[in-house]
Amino acid sequence: MPETTSIKHVASPLARQTLLDGDLTRPVAGGRPIRILPWLQVVKIGGRSIMDRGREAILPIVEEIRKLLPEHRLLILTGAGLRARHVYSVGLDLGLPVGSLAPLAASEAGQNGHILAAMLAPEGVSYVEHPTIANQLAIHLSAARAVVGSAFPPYHHHEFPISRIPPHRADAGAFLLADALGAAGLTIVEDVDGVYTRDPKSPGGEQATLLRETSAADLAKHQGTLPFDPVLLEIMANARHLERVQIVNGLVPGRLTAALRGEHVGTIIRTGARPA
Ligand SMILES: Nc1ncnc2c1ncn2[C@@H]1O[C@H](COP(=O)(O)OP(=O)(O)OP(=O)(O)O)[C@@H](O)[C@H]1O
Ligand SMILES: [Mg+2]
Repeated sequence: MPETTSIKHVASPLARQTLLDGDLTRPVAGGRPIRILPWLQVVKIGGRSIMDRGREAILPIVEEIRKLLPEHRLLILTGAGLRARHVYSVGLDLGLPVGSLAPLAASEAGQNGHILAAMLAPEGVSYVEHPTIANQLAIHLSAARAVVGSAFPPYHHHEFPISRIPPHRADAGAFLLADALGAAGLTIVEDVDGVYTRDPKSPGGEQATLLRETSAADLAKHQGTLPFDPVLLEIMANARHLERVQIVNGLVPGRLTAALRGEHVGTIIRTGARPA
């Protein structure tokens, strides 16, 4: 019966070959993925730099986001901050593996998200969990101009054991999501004007100079600390959609607004994504 045979033998260009050979998979898997939400602006709000400062930093940024809502549709993702640092130190002291620490820290990022969403609730904004972000973000953003989620990626117990502190934290999570959704942009909100040649708040920090524009490839050669997860540089090198990310100072009113309008007001980091 030819009909049954054709149903059983579904034609697939990858069916008869290993997925391990890049030369064979490239003709099928080498294309650029579609942009799922091309109008979306993703904003990562720092846990330590903004949320931990309490009302002095949160109320002005909430007010700024409120005014931005008519202009943009936003996915606001929060970092973990100080409470995660505490949970890391307790967990590390007890010898917990990285896969146990990651979900503990992620829940702190979620708490910050709940706080921010509560402040924006009068505007119709709510906190949504990862499965909702994965499957129902479009409908939520049809009902509201913005939603809030945790910036932590859900690697949890599958976190890579390349270090004792979870390497994929809020910046990595925000970038992975924004790039996977094909978002229009990602803005990372910190308490500094951008990336400096060295930590401007460390001893000798007055000698630090702001890098107005740089690339993930150049920062990979940077010696010293950065204001985001180091693993982000590797992720940026493999980006599919996001060609740049801007880091802005959320303690200066108007910087986030300007960044979302496409103005250069912080540090722009070019990724490895090729222009469409
Ligand atoms: N090269 C650098 N340029 C700018 N800031 C730096 C640099 N190196 C370190 N920093 C420091 O990073 C701080 C921000 O810290 P961090 O990125 O941990 O906060 P956060 O993004 O709010 O945290 P979270 O990941 O919990 O959201 C800045 O206040 C600054 O002092
Ligand atoms: Mg940071």
